[in-house]
Amino acid sequence: MRNITIAIDGYSSTGKSTVAKQLADWLGYVYVDSGAMYRAVTLFAMQNGLISENHFDKETLIEMLGEISLHFTRDEEKGIAEIYLNDKNVEKEIRTLEVSEFVSPIAAVSEVRKKLVEQQQQMGKDKGVVMDGRDIGTVVFPYAELKIFMNASPDERAKRRYLELIDRGDKVSYDEVLANVKERDHIDTTRKDSPLKKADDAIEIDNSEMNLDDQFHIILQLAKDRMAGRV
Ligand code: CDP
Repeated sequence: MRNITIAIDGYSSTGKSTVAKQLADWLGYVYVDSGAMYRAVTLFAMQNGLISENHFDKETLIEMLGEISLHFTRDEEKGIAEIYLNDKNVEKEIRTLEVSEFVSPIAAVSEVRKKLVEQQQQMGKDKGVVMDGRDIGTVVFPYAELKIFMNASPDERAKRRYLELIDRGDKVSYDEVLANVKERDHIDTTRKDSPLKKADDAIEIDNSEMNLDDQFHIILQLAKDRMAGRV
């Protein structure tokens, strides 16, 4: 069995990270949540006063990019890789709706993307990696052996994300979560640099009506076929 690269892209809250983690655990692969990296840059901008209500200071953020260092460290007890911003664990802080509200404009900045894509390519250079995001199959790993493009209806996605946030104890309404999901989809698909789109050779999976177990087994089989060189 050869080691492969698995790229999972798709709209917000489609369950990409859930299935990516399951696959990485099962295959003994490294899992990289590329969205966490864009979220951490957004948190950095918030912490440094670069974001006000409807505006962010793009020029200063670009100047300060050299001050941002990101890495993942696996928490063995939880069994997940957590993200560190300048050596501080920010895994929980980056998941708030506030970060979600600013992340897409920041992820549209080419200088930000260039820095993060280089780091992502470095993390996947030895294969044996599952990475999820928006441009993994199109830009980060265009030669990935397996590319999945995930989709589900906006209502279903907003419902899943709303329950996740409520479960964490965040005070949010379903309507604001739905608005954020739609707004991010719009910015992510229409930006100039690396817009979210299905790679020509990606396999599309709509999981609106699929349970987690079925979804996992479908994608695992696709991975096994490629690892065995059957496809
Ligand atoms: O988990 P969720 O689907 O809400 O989003 P995420 O994967 O955490 O990504 C947050 C945001 O980062 C996205 O809405 C994109 O704007 C951006 N992103 C990106 O531009 N490229 C990636 N490879 C991953 C995320």
